[in-house]
Amino acid sequence: KNKEYQPLYDVLNDAIEFSSYELLSIDGKPYYEYLTKRGIHEDIMKKFSIGFNPKENRLYEFLKAKKHKDEDMVSANVVRISQQGMQDVFFNRITIPIHDGFGNPVGFTARVIDDSSDAKYINTAETPIYIKGNLLFNYHRAKDSAKKQGKIYVVEGAMDVIAFAKAEIDNVVATLGTACTGEQIKLLKSLNSTVCIFYDGDRAGQDATYKVGKLAVERGLSVEIVKNDHNLDPDEIIEAHGKEELREVSKKTISWIDFLFDFLMKKFNLNNYSEKKEYAKIIGEEISRLSDQFEKDSYYNQLRQVSGFDLSQGQSDAQIPDRQSQ
Ligand code: UTP
Ligand code: MN
Ligand code: MN
Ligand code: MN
Ligand code: MN
Repeated sequence: KNKEYQPLYDVLNDAIEFSSYELLSIDGKPYYEYLTKRGIHEDIMKKFSIGFNPKENRLYEFLKAKKHKDEDMVSANVVRISQQGMQDVFFNRITIPIHDGFGNPVGFTARVIDDSSDAKYINTAETPIYIKGNLLFNYHRAKDSAKKQGKIYVVEGAMDVIAFAKAEIDNVVATLGTACTGEQIKLLKSLNSTVCIFYDGDRAGQDATYKVGKLAVERGLSVEIVKNDHNLDPDEIIEAHGKEELREVSKKTISWIDFLFDFLMKKFNLNNYSEKKEYAKIIGEEISRLSDQFEKDSYYNQLRQVSGFDLSQGQSDAQIPDRQSQ
C-alpha cells in the first residue's frame, strides 16, 4: 500500500460511512426499499457496505466538514470540478464500494433505482488507486475461500456477486462488465484455482465468456464454464428461482473444450467446408493445449466425429485434409 495515497483511502472510507448512514435515513427510504425488493437486506448491505448518495453535494459538504482537501476528493473521483463549482460524482444512486486486493476502498459502482433514467450504472473513473483493469470486484473477500475450495467464479456484476453471497457462496469475483484484462487474469492465476466463468446468458455474456476463457487458458489457467440454461444472470436466477437453484446451477460446469464445441457450433456453419475447417482448427488448437493424454484423445475423437477432421497428429494446414481427399 502506497503511503502517498492514504488521503484518498481516507476520503473513500468517509464517503462509504456517509453513504451507509444515508441509506438508513428518510431520504434513503426509496433506495432501501429498492434493495429490499431485490432481496438485499441489512446483513448484505453491511457486508458489502452498500450505501446511498443523496442529491448533489451532500457528500462533498460532509467530506469538507471532515477536513478533507478538495484535491483529494477530486483525485479519488468522488467529487468533480464543474462550472458550478464542486459537484458529487454519484448522487441519487445506490453506491457499492469497490476494494483492491488488500481490502482498501478504491472506488464505487453506483446504480439508479429507476431504470428509465440515465445510465443504469456509473463507476469511478480511473484514478491513481482505481485502475479498472487491475481490479476484480470482491477479490479481497473471495481470495481465501477460493484458495481453500480450488475454485473461483467470475461473474459480470456486483449484483451477481451479491446474489452468490445470499446463497452463501463467497468465492466469486466480478469483472464489472464483460471486459477482462491480462492483469485481471493474473489476479485469478494467483489464486491457484479453477476459474468458473458464469457470465450472463445473453449474447454479450456468452461472447465474452469465449474471450475471457481463451485469455485465461492461454495464460495457463484451468477454466470451466457454468452451463447456464436459464438465459438469466446469477442475480436473476436467485430472484426467479431461489438460492437453491443458484447453488445447483453453479455446480453444473462444463469443460472449456465442451463449451467451445457448443459455442462455436453456433458461430460457424458446418455445412460450409471452409467454415467447418476453421471450426476444427480453433478447437483442435485448444485440445492441443491439454496435458492429459486421455482427455486429448477423446476430444480429438469427438472433433473428428463432429467435423470429419482428425487433428490428433498435429494441426498445421498440411495435416488438415483438403476437399479432394475427403
Ligand atoms: P448488466 O447489464 O448485465 O447489468 O451489466 P444488469 O444485470 O442488467 O444490472 P442489474 O442486475 O439490473 O443491476 C453487468 C455489469 O456491467 C457493468 C456493471 O458492473 C454491471 O453490473 N456495467 C454495465 C457498467 O459498469 N456500465 C454499464 O453501462 C453497464
Ligand atoms: Mn442489463
Ligand atoms: Mn450483462
Ligand atoms: Mn446482468
Ligand atoms: Mn442483473
